[in-house]
Amino acid sequence: MHSSEIDPRIDAYDWGFDTRAEDPTERSKLEEMLMAVKAFASGILRDERPYTLSLLGQSGTGKTHLTKAMGRLFRKISTKRGGTVPWRKLCDDIRAGERGMLRDLETDHYVALDDVGSEYQAKSNYTISALDGILDARTGRRWTLITCNLSLREIAEQWDVRIASRLKRDGSVVVGVDGVSDFSFRKF
Ligand SMILES: Nc1ncnc2c1ncn2[C@@H]1O[C@H](COP(=O)(O)OP(=O)(O)OP(=O)(O)O)[C@@H](O)[C@H]1O
Ligand SMILES: [Mg+2]
Repeated sequence: MHSSEIDPRIDAYDWGFDTRAEDPTERSKLEEMLMAVKAFASGILRDERPYTLSLLGQSGTGKTHLTKAMGRLFRKISTKRGGTVPWRKLCDDIRAGERGMLRDLETDHYVALDDVGSEYQAKSNYTISALDGILDARTGRRWTLITCNLSLREIAEQWDVRIASRLKRDGSVVVGVDGVSDFSFRKF
């Protein structure tokens, strides 16, 4: 894990993320997710050593919610280059021959790649190689947040073991959201 101290601007921010749940295991998973994103955002603000944070698992568990909340926060308080990229849109653009944004994705200070793998139907070597290239350029050098429905094992088996390996490398953090139910069906 990284820096235990969360920047006060991060702590004071309203993430709109409800960590209530009947089941204590689920509750602690939700707290772990929120804490992982706060620590990540805090590291960016404080110019600590960059790493990759992956939020992996089921639908409706708040992965995109946290990604968007972080984007809103940074638009307000940071001048660093970065933002959120819906992965499916990026894949459509690459397929249409638009490759310019790939360079930005390799060099931006922080990037959130949201819903990686959601291009599943159309997934082919070019999307895997785009992700591989982005991670290769960023791992250990720049801040990268990834959300994805697959587990690390599924990423290794279904896509590429190199990608799974990079998500674990150089101080990277992986939070698997198993045991968290879809927010729309959650009971408090
Ligand atoms: N803990 C939470 N507190 C408040 N709202 C939440 C929470 N978790 C999810 N939501 C809301 O539920 C909806 C679905 O969440 P979200 O899109 O973040 O899920 P996801 O994990 O990204 O799912 P997918 O894997 O399908 O992309 C959103 O409207 C989001 O704001
Ligand atoms: Mg999502």
